[in-house]
Amino acid sequence: MRRRSPATARTRAIEVLRAVLEKGRSAAPLIGRRAVGLSPADQDLLRELVLGVLRWKAALDAEIAASSRVPFGKLAPNLRETLEVALYQLRHLDRVPAYAAVSEAVDHARSSGGEGAARLVNGILRSILLLPAPSPPSPLPSPPLRGERGSLRATAPGPPLPAGEGRGEGRSEAEELATYYSHPSFLVARWLERFGPERTRRILVQDNSIPFLDLLVNPRRTTRERLRSALAAENVTTELSPLAPLALTVLSGNPLRSRLLTEGHFSVQDVGSQLLPLLLPPGERLVDLAAAPGGKSLAALAAGRFRESLAVDRSLERLVRVRENVHRLRIPAIRPVGGDLGALPLPEGRFERVLLDAPCSGTGTLRKNPEIRYRIRPDAIERLARAQQEALLAAARLLAPGGFLLYATCSLEEEENERVVERVLERDSGVEPAAIEAPPVLSEFIRGERVRLFPDERTDGFTAHLLRRRSTVAAPGPEVNR
Ligand SMILES: C[S@@+](CC[C@H](N)C(=O)[O-])C[C@H]1O[C@@H](n2cnc3c(N)ncnc32)[C@H](O)[C@@H]1O
Repeated sequence: MRRRSPATARTRAIEVLRAVLEKGRSAAPLIGRRAVGLSPADQDLLRELVLGVLRWKAALDAEIAASSRVPFGKLAPNLRETLEVALYQLRHLDRVPAYAAVSEAVDHARSSGGEGAARLVNGILRSILLLPAPSPPSPLPSPPLRGERGSLRATAPGPPLPAGEGRGEGRSEAEELATYYSHPSFLVARWLERFGPERTRRILVQDNSIPFLDLLVNPRRTTRERLRSALAAENVTTELSPLAPLALTVLSGNPLRSRLLTEGHFSVQDVGSQLLPLLLPPGERLVDLAAAPGGKSLAALAAGRFRESLAVDRSLERLVRVRENVHRLRIPAIRPVGGDLGALPLPEGRFERVLLDAPCSGTGTLRKNPEIRYRIRPDAIERLARAQQEALLAAARLLAPGGFLLYATCSLEEEENERVVERVLERDSGVEPAAIEAPPVLSEFIRGERVRLFPDERTDGFTAHLLRRRSTVAAPGPEVNR
């Protein structure tokens, strides 16, 4: 393979950031496409630069704005991303020498905007370099909480200040945290109110750390221990997840380049996502709604909780990925089915186990999908909640008497979780909440019929509710059958 310089990775990072921020594209697939032809080290650098800038954008922009003689909003878009990529390296990557980050940014500015742009970028970065890195607006939880191992690999956020110190005049705690950790302030304000300051800060720290990669071990090909040793022989170190029985967490090395992946010994899947199917009582057949690329079905069947699964999704393109995964992992009992949640192609009242992994805002996954922060709005959450309500009613109609339905989202917002379930229970009197019986290791996350995991070192954040169709009520009420 032709060796390319890190310069190319930085230039591509700027292009990807523009596509994500200006055209609303998702970062991960674009990074994958733009990584083609780069050396493995440059692929890693490209990923780190794009995701790092997206995780810290508001704080980077605040520093750039404070040192720029041109108002931030008037900087040419290309220059903004050039500065963000350079500043991210200066503030957050100790392996990149400052002179390299600055000189490449200046060269890039020169080639895209001429000598004036180069001088502007040079001036801004050099004056920022004279200043200390910004500090977090209030102390981080101390001692470090379980689940913050990821923050070791994230950037040091500067020395903690005493409570309240450093708060700018008239700025609320939510606004300061929102800028420092680059989150929408409405979301931070909600979390402060709902979860309290300590939990909120923990979420923010986790969202801005570099996530660990989790693997789902395929028991048809190997065991956790065997895979662990085989990966160790390829310089990939892993540890057994204490939460999910088939999960390995990668500590170092890159398993994505291993032939064991292509040979179906494992998949890449967050521990939280692996756990979800374990919250449903086991059964024969699983109906997995909004299923592509098939992670929940694969985890459910790999764990032996079900014999077969119908993986329903409206995206034919994504159903192809289900098929590929099924083929690679040799778990043929998963059948991809094309279908929309608004008109499910399945008979009502016939299924014992249904899982609805509802399309959601994704606020539990802001670490892996940092671009979501720049799109999410309160009205979008309301719109999603209305669609989730209809989808959950439709999923509930599939249930046979006595059948169980797990409603899951990767959102932490009560609008998309608790409120949706409440409305569905009001509208379909045939379903009721059901207590979750899960392995003891999960008991700390279970409150009756609800499980909530906040993002931490072990998992992304998600929320799940278990419902059951009453055996005594034969059919859902008329409203549900509209
Ligand atoms: C986050 S992904 C689901 C991940 C999947 N459950 C897994 O574990 O691999 C969301 C999926 O919902 C599907 N989806 C979105 N809206 C849908 C709808 N109205 N009907 C059916 N599927 C839908 C998307 O195509 C996408 O594949």
